[in-house]
Amino acid sequence: MTRDEIILAGEKFLFPAVFHYYKEPLVIDHAKDQYVWDADGNQYLDFFGGIVTVSVGHLNDYVRGKIHEQVDRLHHVSTLFPTQPQAELAQTIAGVTPNGALTKSFFTNSGTEANETAIMLARCYTGHSEVIALRHSYHGRSALGTSLTGQRIWRGPGAAQPGIVHAHSAYCYRCPLGLTYPSCEVKCAGDVQDVIETTTTGRIAAFIAEPIQGSGGVITPPKEYFSIVQKIVRNHGGIFISDEVQTGWGRTGGKWFGIEHYGVVPDVITGAKGLANGLPIGVTTARAKIADSMRYLTLSTFGGNPVSTAAAKAVIEFIQQQDLQTNCEQVGGYLRERLLELQAKYSLIGDVRGMGLLQAMELVKDRETKQPAAEKTLALMEAARRNRLLIGKGGLYGNVIRITPPMNISRGDVEECIRLLDLSFQEVERQRD
Ligand SMILES: Cc1ncc(COP(=O)(O)O)c(C=O)c1O
Repeated sequence: MTRDEIILAGEKFLFPAVFHYYKEPLVIDHAKDQYVWDADGNQYLDFFGGIVTVSVGHLNDYVRGKIHEQVDRLHHVSTLFPTQPQAELAQTIAGVTPNGALTKSFFTNSGTEANETAIMLARCYTGHSEVIALRHSYHGRSALGTSLTGQRIWRGPGAAQPGIVHAHSAYCYRCPLGLTYPSCEVKCAGDVQDVIETTTTGRIAAFIAEPIQGSGGVITPPKEYFSIVQKIVRNHGGIFISDEVQTGWGRTGGKWFGIEHYGVVPDVITGAKGLANGLPIGVTTARAKIADSMRYLTLSTFGGNPVSTAAAKAVIEFIQQQDLQTNCEQVGGYLRERLLELQAKYSLIGDVRGMGLLQAMELVKDRETKQPAAEKTLALMEAARRNRLLIGKGGLYGNVIRITPPMNISRGDVEECIRLLDLSFQEVERQRD
């Protein structure tokens, strides 16, 4: 098929809900490591990784080798039969959770399902049903996932599920309480207490949060935030679910999971995206006594799929072998420095935030009023595409540029990204004139 035939067939035979980046959709033909090529043969530096999912580079040779071995051996039997890849992956994951405290996993196919499983588990374990989530969060596209999500644009057609309430996000750049860190004493964490006391029965099943709110615009809470919240959640009988779909597996630098930067051991971790470098997988990993409480009849036909789990184990091995957590810390630190240089050059960049190789820039029309620059963000996306750089967009106001390259990139790749971003900002500035 030609590029145009692909686009036309999609328009005719896919739901229009399948939307694309860019005014003219970019048809990707093939990829290798940090690069993708479009249907016309143009090469792009991929600093978005298929929405934070290509964790160790497109078609990573080590992971690809393990996938091939598995593809030639066994594709599918369902969770009704034990398989070696699933057992090995569960064991591997148990070995990397914070303090080794979370030892039992349930595999599914996506982040949405991983979160669904976590909420069901919390309800089994606590006997309570109400859940606290955060504003600006994203937790999935199902009925429960959209109800957990704290962004109007991602909450679907309405009629959210009952029993889920949303506390303030620790969104320092736009503090919901109008305060400034650190003199604020992280008062936003106390909102979890207020919300529990005023909008629930006081007996909750769970608090679910992303350590860094990815889709919400890489909102990065202050370091004290989660330990304060965890105490409140425990006092009300709930468990703490850390949604690590974007922050997991080393991306935040120096640690396996984003929540570890906050000195907190959660009760449940959910993962997906980068875990299998692009093969479908979801995982809910819990403390054993919590996992053991899920006793109702349930299964996931594709959960623990041998090919996906073999890929995921290979990804974790590759991260360990190449010490990619350190790479994320060092190269991510360099990326941050260079983004701050861009911020000094372009007043459009109101804020730079994130951890490791999960970084973002919030674009504003005016640094005083912080009015979101959504149109300029779109213009920057288009300019970056013309300059052969793929980056992501997010935030409730559509004004955050997300930069999430594979975790095994080098400083040289960062330099190239910054050069292309600089060119793109220049183009957007010229458009303003
Ligand atoms: C933090 C977070 N949780 C859950 C999900 C849902 O994952 P999936 O799209 O695999 O269902 C996403 C997807 O972007 C996410 O970013």
